Amino acid sequence: MTKTSGTQENGTKRIAVIPGDGAGVDVTAETVKVLEAATAASGRKLELEHFDWSADRYLRDGTTLPEGASKMLVDRFDAILFGALGDPRVKDNRHAADILLGLRFQLDLYVNARPCELLDARLTPLRDRTERDLDFMIFRENTEGLYVNIGGVFKRGTPDEVAVQEQINTRKGVERILRHGYEYARRKKLTRFCMTDKSNALPHGHGLWQRVFAELKTQYPEIESRHLYVDALAAELVRDPSQFQVIVAPNLLGDILSDLGAQLIGGMGVAPSGNIHPGRIGLFEPVHGSAPKIAGKNLANPIGSVLSSAMMLEEIGFPEEAAVIREAVRASVREGKTTTDLGGSMGTREVGDWLADYVARHGVKR
Ligand SMILES: NC(=O)c1ccc[n+]([C@@H]2O[C@H](COP(=O)([O-])OP(=O)(O)OC[C@H]3O[C@@H](n4cnc5c(N)ncnc54)[C@H](O)[C@@H]3O)[C@@H](O)[C@H]2O)c1
Repeated sequence: MTKTSGTQENGTKRIAVIPGDGAGVDVTAETVKVLEAATAASGRKLELEHFDWSADRYLRDGTTLPEGASKMLVDRFDAILFGALGDPRVKDNRHAADILLGLRFQLDLYVNARPCELLDARLTPLRDRTERDLDFMIFRENTEGLYVNIGGVFKRGTPDEVAVQEQINTRKGVERILRHGYEYARRKKLTRFCMTDKSNALPHGHGLWQRVFAELKTQYPEIESRHLYVDALAAELVRDPSQFQVIVAPNLLGDILSDLGAQLIGGMGVAPSGNIHPGRIGLFEPVHGSAPKIAGKNLANPIGSVLSSAMMLEEIGFPEEAAVIREAVRASVREGKTTTDLGGSMGTREVGDWLADYVARHGVKR
């Protein structure tokens, strides 16, 4: 469970809400409605406080992640509900890098949990696959690898230009994400664990992953440990996803695989994620970005964000509210109460209203 420095005496949990840009704003508004309906039904309290860190704010006064923001979040909140960042007006997306990567690194959110669970057989582009075939978790290492922004450009703009982008793999970093994956498997009684890398081509960096994996797997003898190079894993995920329950991947590879996973379960609109450091504050966000083309048009699917909030509720100790929200999402897909990306005819707001209403009507069984 997440640390509780934001928790108040009466058990109220405090959530920092950062909608961000574009579709992030659209979907977060609906998730807030659903969260409010769930806690109204259960009688437990969430206090939500909004922060306007976004492209608008950056363009207005130059603020990205304010000084001291990470400490303030740790001191005052139990979790962060995040939308998405990215705006065509900010060419280098500097605000997005500062805010999202800043929070991931400063809060040391080393686990990027990306569940790929098929909500309804009609949503997968794979032929003859059902909900039973597609239910796996990707744990992407979230603080190292190629995303550490170490490198440089030499002789920029000349024919002799050289660009160097370093990657970092530490024993501590590799061990803690692999251990997290194994502990999750053990807790959930899952038996199929797959570590992926590209150690055949990257023998130094990913060789470390191989060595740590070889050490750790002996500590989890009840779990079937398997290794696949990432290219083979991508192919296997499409050929037969039912082979997989828990996948652990380095940062870049996990980023790519989880978008593949998102498409297998119905597209970017439905995939949730959590950025977690077990025992500390976590940040929960849909896998998708700010989708500028559909932003502000009542088109974005709120399900990825709503399911991310269910992950958040589980982390902060509200599992019943999380369960009824998941049930509402399943029902909406089953009954075709969805946005157009899933074949429905509803808008973002109408889906949000439908989910909030479902949660209010079905209450929360505690
Ligand atoms: N975590 C984040 O904040 C995050 C993640 C990815 C991309 N981005 C940023 O978002 C911006 C757009 O990036 P992109 O186009 O590569 O990725 P994107 O995820 O925003 O969009 C990819 C595709 O998915 C669709 N899509 C996305 N969200 C959807 C939703 N809720 N419902 C229905 N369809 C949806 C979009 O219309 C688009 O066709 C960029 O600035 C990028 O840097 C941010």
